[in-house]
Amino acid sequence: MKWMLFLLERAMAEGGAFMPPQGTKIAEEYDNLYAFLLWASLIGSMILIGGMIFFVVKYKRKTDHDKTPYISHNTFLEFIWSFIPLVIFLGVFVWGWHLYHEMRTMPENALEVNVFGRQWSWEFAYKSGKTSGKEFYVPVNTPVKLIMTSKDVLHSFYIPSMRIKQDVVPGMYTTLSFNAEKLGDYQIFCAEYCGTTHSGMLGQMHVVSQADFEKWLQENEEGMTLAEKGQKYFTDKGCVACHSVDGTPKVGPSWKGVFGLKEHEMDDGQKVSVDENYVRESILNPNAKVVKGYPKGVMPTFQGQLSEDQLNALIEFIKSLK
Ligand code: CUA
Repeated sequence: MKWMLFLLERAMAEGGAFMPPQGTKIAEEYDNLYAFLLWASLIGSMILIGGMIFFVVKYKRKTDHDKTPYISHNTFLEFIWSFIPLVIFLGVFVWGWHLYHEMRTMPENALEVNVFGRQWSWEFAYKSGKTSGKEFYVPVNTPVKLIMTSKDVLHSFYIPSMRIKQDVVPGMYTTLSFNAEKLGDYQIFCAEYCGTTHSGMLGQMHVVSQADFEKWLQENEEGMTLAEKGQKYFTDKGCVACHSVDGTPKVGPSWKGVFGLKEHEMDDGQKVSVDENYVRESILNPNAKVVKGYPKGVMPTFQGQLSEDQLNALIEFIKSLK
């Protein structure tokens, strides 16, 4: 009871809003669909329960001589009570599918931010080389794409006000996108139980003006962009021995211009799209997919030799080689 009162109080305190503030246009659409589902369920159950009570009372057997009339079926009625719900359910499906499609379509030219989950905090890495723990800054009215992975166990990145949530999985990248339309501070949660301090795995998202964002981004202690860090590992880790960055084929294919290719042909004829997950796999499990024209089994695995941050920087370096 106490927690219900607490929630009610909180809801009242925030201007009577039951839902968290809507930080994006999609959040509004999302709430509309949710409200429709809620009202449709409420009206549907009122008709159902109300009808049931009405008929129970009206057709109650009153005397021992009451005979139950013999009714087999009514085609028209049966059609109607099947067809109307069918139309409503199909409508909800199309509505939800459309919205989901909109949420899952990654915008072109978005501001990319890498997100790392780990027990029990969030880390954010920007292309400029800036990294941040807990504090997540984004400029207002800008499409943002999050490329996320975990350094240990399964987490889930959740910003209620943006109505976005996605599992953050060790060993692979998952993505999210949004376009924040209102300045302000928003709460970030972890929405997947990940150990003792799961409930304390919080973060703050700050939606600020473009100018403030640039200013914040400038405060960069390491003085190296993410791609520059990647370039350093490219040499330090020995990638340079077999891969060029100018398009010349060496023992392995050049890194120039490969990122983003939609139909990159492998030696077994399959075509892959070169994204973060493909590059990651090619570094950690090089023989899983070998580019057409190159020998199999030559590249050693880098499993366990690169941290998530180093991998991330290397991928960013490859992305920068247009
Ligand atoms: Cu991380 Cu729960």
